[in-house]
Amino acid sequence: MLLEATALKSGYGKVQILHGVEFTVASGKITTVLGPNGAGKSTLMKTLSGHLPVMGGTFHYNGKSLVGHRALSICLAGIGYVPQEANVFFDLSVRDNLLASSLAFEGAAERVAEVFRRFPILEERADQRASTLSGGERQTLAIATALVTGPDVMILDEPTSGLAPIFVDRILGWVGELAQEGMGVAWVVEQNPEKILAISETTYVIDAGRNADTIESKSLLEPGRLESVLL
Ligand SMILES: Nc1ncnc2c1ncn2[C@@H]1O[C@H](COP(=O)(O)OP(=O)(O)O)[C@@H](O)[C@H]1O
Ligand SMILES: [Mg+2]
Repeated sequence: MLLEATALKSGYGKVQILHGVEFTVASGKITTVLGPNGAGKSTLMKTLSGHLPVMGGTFHYNGKSLVGHRALSICLAGIGYVPQEANVFFDLSVRDNLLASSLAFEGAAERVAEVFRRFPILEERADQRASTLSGGERQTLAIATALVTGPDVMILDEPTSGLAPIFVDRILGWVGELAQEGMGVAWVVEQNPEKILAISETTYVIDAGRNADTIESKSLLEPGRLESVLL
């Protein structure tokens, strides 16, 4: 198991939100996270990316404990994170967003060139401010800023929420490709999760800061199953 958390506790200041969550992400697999609004999905992702402290439980990555590590250290270890909100610098150009993400790594220019090869649409907009991008382009940039750090695991928090269908399909395609290349992916699902569930291995259902269920993702595509899990 590439990333494994057990009995994970976390929250904001003294307010505990996660009350002992189990979660794993394996190389080359897409793991999805499902649950009602306010369940703690984003809190889990913020904790695994080092933006919130672990209050209890274990968090291992490649067999090494990351408890007590902060965001940069976790990023350097190989976990990329695309937050649900505020995931690019609006006032910076596309290129500078990517360079800013590469600063802590060697060969920043080559990293950016490599990401441009994967996402030609970003190269076309390299000198535009991020604030001028469409929603789908901005989300592509956010994913690229995580990719440029060369992660082995990507954490994506509702990455296609509110996007035009063409970008939903593009992002699904890119993430599917990354998983085939060996990337471990954690994807918090939004509305209409059928397409991501179809290429995902395991779904963790989170409710009120706890595991409500762990399900083979494809079984959620059976009629009525998704509704029964969410109700
Ligand atoms: N910055 C914050 N400060 C305090 N509480 C927060 C903060 N962000 C989220 N919460 C609370 O944590 C709980 C889980 O939120 P979140 O993880 O964002 O849910 P989800 O992503 O599943 O919709 C909610 O009760 C929410 O109000
Ligand atoms: Mg959320």
